[in-house]
Amino acid sequence: MKVLMLNGSPRAEGNTAAALHEMQRVFADEGIETELLHVGGRDIRGCIACVKCAETGRCVFDDIVNELAPVFEACDGLVVGSPVYYASANATLIALLTRLFYSTHFDKTMKVGAAVAAARRGGVTTTYDELNKFFAIAGMPIATGQYWNGIHGRLPGEAKEDAEGLQSMRTLARNMAFLMKSIALGKERYGLPEREAAVRTNFIR
Ligand SMILES: Cc1cc2nc3c(=O)[nH]c(=O)nc-3n(C[C@H](O)[C@H](O)[C@H](O)COP(=O)(O)O)c2cc1C
Repeated sequence: MKVLMLNGSPRAEGNTAAALHEMQRVFADEGIETELLHVGGRDIRGCIACVKCAETGRCVFDDIVNELAPVFEACDGLVVGSPVYYASANATLIALLTRLFYSTHFDKTMKVGAAVAAARRGGVTTTYDELNKFFAIAGMPIATGQYWNGIHGRLPGEAKEDAEGLQSMRTLARNMAFLMKSIALGKERYGLPEREAAVRTNFIR
């Protein structure tokens, strides 16, 4: 069982990383492997809506998005962490997630998703909502914790003093581990839910 963790901060060891490391310790105790990738400092362009990926299942820009696709496909859970910038996630992370989710065609159903935001003061919940949208459209159950998963601090490392934030991360990781293990059992026993062919009406016809 494996969790892919994306650090969407340009700071490799900032407050987002502190939150993700706290989760990693719980996953290790639960016997769950993690791969933590620092993506927030990369030069990742946005989607250009060429829709080539509809034919190929890959992004035309052959960068970290295509490298990550098989790692995402193989994992049981995805944790996405971001610093809060103007009450939103880091644009670099959103560029990556947009292209990754849009270009790949593999079934994401029942991979568990979790979103985490780090902020000095405000915008955690809007960022949390923004990140959860990627999971929700892909049929991924969303792991929740004891609050809207946020941690507070401004300078790198300050979040390690946010006891409630750290506890939220531990609770989230424990709940996520339980969900992933339960889903693995459920898949064995009942299989994945039946999927209908998509109906896409664009609201006009
Ligand atoms: C461009 C920019 C915008 C920011 N906007 C917000 C904000 O809207 N709300 C907030 O509380 N903190 C804001 N911050 C502060 C960061 O969210 C905060 O320092 C966070 O802990 C950074 O996480 P990191 O150490 O993982 O990069 C902003 C920081 C930057 C650089």
